[in-house]
Amino acid sequence: MSEQLHPTSEAYENFNRDWLKFKELPMTNLEDAERGLKNLFEIQNKHTGKKSEISSLLKSIGQVAPNDRIEFAQAIQELKTKVKIAIDLAEKELQRFLSNIKIERERIDVTLPGTRPRTGHLHLITILRQRVEDIFVSMGYAIEDDREIETDYYNFDALNIPEGHPARESQDTFYTTDGFALRSQTSTVQIRAMERRGAPIRIIAPGKVFRRDTPDMTHVPMFHQIEGLCVDKGITMAHLKGTINEWVKRMFGEDTITRMRPSYFPFTEPSAEFDYSCFKCHGTGKVGSWQNAVGSEEASQLITDNRQPTTDRCRPCKGSGWIELGGSGMVHPNVLKACGVDPTIYSGFAFGFGLERMCALMYSLDDIRLMFDNDVRFLEQFR
Ligand code: DAH
Repeated sequence: MSEQLHPTSEAYENFNRDWLKFKELPMTNLEDAERGLKNLFEIQNKHTGKKSEISSLLKSIGQVAPNDRIEFAQAIQELKTKVKIAIDLAEKELQRFLSNIKIERERIDVTLPGTRPRTGHLHLITILRQRVEDIFVSMGYAIEDDREIETDYYNFDALNIPEGHPARESQDTFYTTDGFALRSQTSTVQIRAMERRGAPIRIIAPGKVFRRDTPDMTHVPMFHQIEGLCVDKGITMAHLKGTINEWVKRMFGEDTITRMRPSYFPFTEPSAEFDYSCFKCHGTGKVGSWQNAVGSEEASQLITDNRQPTTDRCRPCKGSGWIELGGSGMVHPNVLKACGVDPTIYSGFAFGFGLERMCALMYSLDDIRLMFDNDVRFLEQFR
């Protein structure tokens, strides 16, 4: 009998060899546990699977002498149970270990500061444009948006700038083939809007314009303008002045005043350039150090010494007290005619100004190119 039992103990020893190896596997992290589990299943397959020693022992029961058969069968069964219990236990333990590691890894510490998603915001030119739009919309103006690629006719001819006119040169732009050009001014929208809507009309047209300028601190080949147009019966220059006045007061403060200087534009007659009193120095051209030095050591020293603050030249207006706004005038009868509006019945005013320089002055930017460099560190400052 003992000879017959020998195969069982040999099977047990074979299992035990693998088992001891398994027990010695390092078990400190997720990867160890996963490797251990894989190893455990291999052991299970090898020692209890169809091709295992235990299986073949079970199959051999029939060949054992009838007297020894029960004992033999019991011994195999016992071995099989032992192996199974050992493996099941180890598996449970490993699974628990694995799930603990996973829980630990995925644990959320709600007290940790979160990572804030970066929120986008409007570009500073857009912010300024919307402020201007809001003011004009509240005065009954509609906003017109139109094409940036234009024909010579809309960019020049219809605006009373015929071929060979010197004003074409100052607005040299980018031409495509087939007589198209990137518009050099938003005044083109005056024509398009009047053609579409006729008179009376009250619109502003914000948008990009293009000129063949070499970029420097105060020039870029693409910039933004806002065009205004008001045509009705009996419109005079007084309406123009009143409108601009109202706008700058709402834009820069109640105490802002404007002045007009005679000028020339082919599409207006008479024409004027507008200035507004500086928002920084309120038209004085000077900025006192009191204002600059509030709370500083310099201010307290001035008080101690009983000295008057010195005054600095105001930067935005370069000490003049005035800031240039843009061009304007009474719409030229030729322009009205070109759009099918009868100049004997209707009259109107128009104006146009750029946004970049205004923006640069308002935010004390030395270089307007900064606005188009797409450096988020710069742009983020203006929300
Ligand atoms: N289009 C002119 C420019 O780009 C600005 C301008 C001046 C527009 C007078 C007007 C205007 O509508 O009446 O310099």
